[in-house]
Amino acid sequence: MSVTSIKGFADMFPPESDAFTFMEAKAREVFGRCGFVELRTPIVEHTELFCRSIGEETDVVQKEMYTFPDRKGRMLTLRPEATAGVMRAYIQSARHTQEPVSKLFTTGPMFRYERPQKGRMRQFHQINCECLGSSSPYTDAELIVALMTFLQEIGLRDLSLKMNSLGCPSCRAAYKKALIAYLEGLDTELLCDDCKRRMHTNPLRVLDCKQEGCKSLTAAAPTILDYNCPDCRQHFDVVLRMLDAAKVPVTLDSCLVRGLDYYCRTTFEVVSGAIGAQSSVAGGGRYDGLIKQLGGADIPGVGFACGMERLALLLPQREALRPDFFVVAMGQGTQDAAFGLVNSLRRQGFAGDMSHAGGSFKSQMRQADKSRARFCLIIGEEELAQGKVSVKNMLAEGKEQHSVPMAGVAELF
Ligand code: HAM
Repeated sequence: MSVTSIKGFADMFPPESDAFTFMEAKAREVFGRCGFVELRTPIVEHTELFCRSIGEETDVVQKEMYTFPDRKGRMLTLRPEATAGVMRAYIQSARHTQEPVSKLFTTGPMFRYERPQKGRMRQFHQINCECLGSSSPYTDAELIVALMTFLQEIGLRDLSLKMNSLGCPSCRAAYKKALIAYLEGLDTELLCDDCKRRMHTNPLRVLDCKQEGCKSLTAAAPTILDYNCPDCRQHFDVVLRMLDAAKVPVTLDSCLVRGLDYYCRTTFEVVSGAIGAQSSVAGGGRYDGLIKQLGGADIPGVGFACGMERLALLLPQREALRPDFFVVAMGQGTQDAAFGLVNSLRRQGFAGDMSHAGGSFKSQMRQADKSRARFCLIIGEEELAQGKVSVKNMLAEGKEQHSVPMAGVAELF
């Protein structure tokens, strides 16, 4: 039996791989304009890094990590997200001593052991931006505007940006208390098993439980925005004002608590109504205590990640680029000349191909057609003797043929 890929891990051929290349290039361009530089971090980290940053109580840490011992028994984990590794690299390189604000872009595969479905894979890819060293609300707004610009520039429409403020540890503590009191007043038997457990350990997560029973029980829960302290409120107001000024529409959602524990103040998600249950295409927020919690200096941060598989489901179809030429060789000695012509044109910057298998004129012409090349360049024995090439413009009506000197072919393009 032949070996197949692992469930939830996909191969990617064009057009999907082309879509990924396109998104990465656009991301580098758009985020590069905003001052982001690229950081590449390892795919594997010490397990402890994720437990300490994402949070022991989260689904990601409890159920979804690919964790294994290495040959010396040290526990390692395939990264389930990029932020923790970026923080580790930032602290380890003492980057804050080199620049007051770091804007770091990263992209690549992430791993979560979830049930695969449309838009949800065990190996998936994120485009990730983190801005470290600024606590200004203008930074939150800048980041969100950059994200929405990127999504617009790759051609996505009809997305909605949901936002909430989770407050700071002190005002959130008061909110947690009020929320637990509210939850305790309910018939808790009606909550799902996960929520029964987390209503005391991580009560905010009860708010974004997808189970219908939990949803209806929490519909009248106190909202966190009412508990934001004046500083958190003011921070959020400036973010919202700047987004309004940048003409980025926002929907406030006081149940948006995100699935990772490190957030404070601004949190956001971009959702699409067009891709089914896994509707969140991007998510992020501020995480001011995280770097300190991981042993670094007390440096604030804010960031987001987009899920590339989900973006790919929404991308408008793009027409594949046409190659410039396809060379057809027919007769004695013509294959060598064709090989030379292809190399010479490619070295001059033009794209095209030929058939190394040769074959009949008809079959080579079929390949020329299939390649969608703009010009078919035919070298027969007669052309070879005269140092010429017959040219067919494949896009012209009737595809008439004329001949040009072999040395002047590049002028066609
Ligand atoms: P997240 O919400 O866990 O946040 O993931 C961000 C995005 O990754 C999601 O909105 C979704 O598009 C995509 N995603 C997550 N899981 C899967 C999956 N199994 N299959 C396909 N796509 C998936 C984070 O990861 C945070 N690190 C974001 C962040 C950066 N916050 C601050 N900085």
